[in-house]
Amino acid sequence: MTAKAKQDQIAELIRQAVVIPVLTIERLSDAVPLAKALVAGGVRTLEVTLRTPVAIDAARAIMAEVPDAMVGIGTILNGDDLARAEALGVRFGISPGATPELLQAAASSRLPFAPGIATASELMQALAHGFEVVKFFPAEQAGGIKALRALAGPFPNVRVCPTGGIGETNAAAWLAEPNVLAVGGSWLCPASEIRAGNWAGITAMCAQSMKSLKAACR
Ligand code: 3PG
Repeated sequence: MTAKAKQDQIAELIRQAVVIPVLTIERLSDAVPLAKALVAGGVRTLEVTLRTPVAIDAARAIMAEVPDAMVGIGTILNGDDLARAEALGVRFGISPGATPELLQAAASSRLPFAPGIATASELMQALAHGFEVVKFFPAEQAGGIKALRALAGPFPNVRVCPTGGIGETNAAAWLAEPNVLAVGGSWLCPASEIRAGNWAGITAMCAQSMKSLKAACR
């Protein structure tokens, strides 16, 4: 697959998601019920972050038991993480950053991948390796929508998934930006609700958010 086709593939995957929850799974036993709760609420594209020791097993369990979930791996920090995600057979990979080592590994990997950028220079490095679909992270803290609009001047073809500081109150405003494909964040799966096993609560929150955010995308 050409670099361009790979970019179009991940762009479409992210665009269809509308919202990509950033999952930090502490107990393996939470993985499947959490994924089922999110999918039941209409949130199907899931980023399982490599932030806990059970992350890879959690992603594997979700892929096996929740066929409607589109599982990706997040918090990919280096070539080893990328290789682990690719070996697992997930649909996509996401990173908070863009080191030269990671960009090189991702450019030669088959895994659809979005590096993270917060500045023009980081974005230029990503573009130099063929990545024009990126995670804008940490979106609110790095200047918010004003910063994104400023970046769109010199980089009109770049499409982004902003993440960091996005929640119920500002997600629609981000989605209204023409270069935003989807928004990411942890607000739909708070650690307290996961620990409490409040799966019905997570489903209800997702269903309500998806309804209003899909309307905002129109
Ligand atoms: C990420 O890795 O994308 C962030 O940790 C998510 O940010 P949030 O917790 O502010 O949504």
